[in-house]
Amino acid sequence: MSGQPGASQPGASQPGAGQPGASQLSVLPVTGLPEIGAGADLAALITDAAPDLRDGDILVVTSKIVSKAEGRVVTGDREAAIDAEAVRTVARRGQTRIVTTRHGLVLAAAGVDTSNTAPGTVVLLPADPDASARRLRQAIATRRGISVGVIISDTLGRAWRTGQTDTAIGAAGLMPLRDHRGQTDTFGNPLEVTVAAVADEIAAAADLVKGKTSQIPVAIARGLPELVITADGPGAAALVRPAAEDMFRLGAADVLTERRTVREFTAEPVDPAAVRRAIAAALTAPAPHHSTPWRFAVLESAAARTALLDEMLAAWQADLSGDGFTPEQIARRVRRGVPLRRAPLIIVPCLVTDAAHAYPDERRNGAERSMFVVAMGAAVQNLLVALAIDGLGSCWVSSTLFCQPVAAAALGLPPGWEPMGAVGVGHPAAPAPPRPDRDPDGFLLTL
Ligand SMILES: Cc1cc2nc3c(=O)[nH]c(=O)nc-3n(C[C@H](O)[C@H](O)[C@H](O)COP(=O)(O)O)c2cc1C
Repeated sequence: MSGQPGASQPGASQPGAGQPGASQLSVLPVTGLPEIGAGADLAALITDAAPDLRDGDILVVTSKIVSKAEGRVVTGDREAAIDAEAVRTVARRGQTRIVTTRHGLVLAAAGVDTSNTAPGTVVLLPADPDASARRLRQAIATRRGISVGVIISDTLGRAWRTGQTDTAIGAAGLMPLRDHRGQTDTFGNPLEVTVAAVADEIAAAADLVKGKTSQIPVAIARGLPELVITADGPGAAALVRPAAEDMFRLGAADVLTERRTVREFTAEPVDPAAVRRAIAAALTAPAPHHSTPWRFAVLESAAARTALLDEMLAAWQADLSGDGFTPEQIARRVRRGVPLRRAPLIIVPCLVTDAAHAYPDERRNGAERSMFVVAMGAAVQNLLVALAIDGLGSCWVSSTLFCQPVAAAALGLPPGWEPMGAVGVGHPAAPAPPRPDRDPDGFLLTL
């Protein structure tokens, strides 16, 4: 795996040689490229350095030189560059940040790199690596009259495995995925889920001959002409798993911010198993005296929800009328209860305080009660976050707190269960608006 493409690999262009149905793959480094600067003509430099580049070859180009050629090198602070490139922080430990970029890539430091660049400068990922791949492919076709696949690669860590590997972040002229579903294995078993990320596999293989320290930023994969297509193809964007299919979309850092108050829901029903999981999460909250003061009434049926909401509405209207509000004012006020009417499921969190200690004075009894109330808040927060992890929106509203006996009667709650508001649950009808920025400095006293 050294020397000029093809020079040391006789037979490399004979796919299918050897085992029937198998292709023979050669991975060849492209040596002799100069240091790349802004405005460099990569197609010219690469085709000069690889005179043997052939139709059906797949060219793997390290994103760093694409970024440099495209002028994606900025002067200044690495952290500020990461902030600008990241759309979401997925996980953080100390100074290390795993983020999602605009491209949908999840990687450390948004791919911002300070290696192999002048001190005080940082290299960003190409703005649109698929577009970079398309341009390079086109320029090579124009220059040499050959059709090659192009992969722009970058080095990524993996969540569950030690060590990094190269990955395709841009691609053109090749199928980035090879779908084996519907085929059978050698035992005749149908392959149901196998979709090979061939662009990633080729990027990783190319890294074996490129290397980080040997200044070889380009390699050629030869022997997979069946993957090379005449069209640009879907690009490496096809390798970004859609959020809805991603079981690991939330990392440690963004799980809490995923919970937002949702007041508009779709008609899609709520999976009862997700509700059970959320209640199990609620039951892990801290509570005083090793107690478990949380209970939950789950209103799955429309009849149960309507009965509760109608009773609460009547109680609310009576309260407002007693306050001297006009019927118009009352009608306006009670509209605030609408989110619960729209929710396909309601959970009423309830507090039981039978484990509370009794004191001879009001002060300590009040403190005791506060302990149980805040423990209820912790449990409901867990509930709401767990629902959010399952993609469910929620709205915790005060409602039942203002008419506890009425709500308890409407729900037929066991004695001692105090309703603590109500949580509307459902699939969000729209994304939540941006969260207001809150600077911790405004909320803390450091002593
Ligand atoms: C105890 C409690 C009672 C609440 N009552 C209501 C309510 O009656 N109606 C409502 O729309 N939202 C209610 N909320 C939700 C807040 O308005 C919401 O948390 C706030 O707007 C911040 O938005 P976020 O939850 O998306 O961060 C309540 C929240 C809590 C914790």
